[in-house]
Amino acid sequence: MRILAYHVQPYEEKAFVNWAKNNGIEVVLEKGLLSVDSVDKAKGFDGVTTQQVIPVKDEEIFKKLKEYGVSQISSRTAGVDMFDGLLAKNYGVAITNVPRYSPNAIAELAVSHAMQLLRNVKHINSAMRNGDFTWNKDLISREIRNCTVGIVGTGKIGLTAAKLFKGLGAKVIGYDKFINEEAKEVLEYKDTLDDLLKESDVVSLHLPLFDDTYHLINKENIKLMKDDAILVNTGRGALVNIDDVIEALESGKLFGAGIDVLECETMYVNQKVDDEKIKGTVVEKLMSMDNVVLTGHFAFFTETAVDNLVSTSLDNIKNSVETGKLQNCTNM
Ligand code: NAI
Repeated sequence: MRILAYHVQPYEEKAFVNWAKNNGIEVVLEKGLLSVDSVDKAKGFDGVTTQQVIPVKDEEIFKKLKEYGVSQISSRTAGVDMFDGLLAKNYGVAITNVPRYSPNAIAELAVSHAMQLLRNVKHINSAMRNGDFTWNKDLISREIRNCTVGIVGTGKIGLTAAKLFKGLGAKVIGYDKFINEEAKEVLEYKDTLDDLLKESDVVSLHLPLFDDTYHLINKENIKLMKDDAILVNTGRGALVNIDDVIEALESGKLFGAGIDVLECETMYVNQKVDDEKIKGTVVEKLMSMDNVVLTGHFAFFTETAVDNLVSTSLDNIKNSVETGKLQNCTNM
């Protein structure tokens, strides 16, 4: 069996090499994306995997893959919106994904952001940079065991975050459209988002972006939040109206915000960006604030998650070639 891996990143190489060695299967690593120009490279392979940042919606790609006997694109992602699943299906090309690669990766960053904010780490660093090492009364912290943490979205990542916060001693409450029976053992469900916002010292968002979750957190419901509450968003940028959040941070209504995702993130995620590009944007603003911890979509970025993404995507191909049965298929 031979597998071609498109758009391989330097941080993935080790995982590819290990999987190939452990499974005795040849995996050829290709830097470029899967596109009309590169699809010919798939000739002679049994399967392809990719991690696309540009859409795969051109009919020619699926047509040629089918012609070369490649009947599966194994995506090294959870979301597969970059593929035209229906078009692929028409050509008999299955799109498979990695639905669960490490909820802990994202949950741990949410906890880390919350803890850094609670413990005033950025404020302390700023004071120290100015030679001020004093136990200033403004820098005294709350302890997490005296806090209520509100988890919005109690699925795989939300539940993992709930367990981690609970392990640190916090009281954990949750809100979700659907009750997760397992989560009931860890947190107390609230009937409405408003109820959760009113009671939480830390609010952590772990739900998908849909029409009904767009700007879920906004000026109106920030008013309901406790004074000095902390908001953590590792879900999707557009879950919050960031202008409203900045206003609340500046007015002192919110104590801090831990942000891994922003609505405008395509302008900087996984790129080198010069100062001019971010000048005057919310990114520059948030980076300048001591009550904000900002990371540029790094929550998933752990060794375990990358290893799972690579190995599951390759397992998806191996399994279907060996057994004829598709696993983690999204479009058939
Ligand atoms: P999941 O599907 O296991 O859980 C999502 C939960 O949100 C479900 O329990 C669902 O019922 C709930 N939900 C959906 N709509 C809701 C609404 N309107 N109100 C209340 N609850 C609602 O998904 P998982 O794996 O826990 O991922 C959560 C989100 O985390 C993803 O959708 C993604 O946006 C984000 N994510 C962020 C990453 C990062 O690197 N920053 C990496 C991976 C995921």
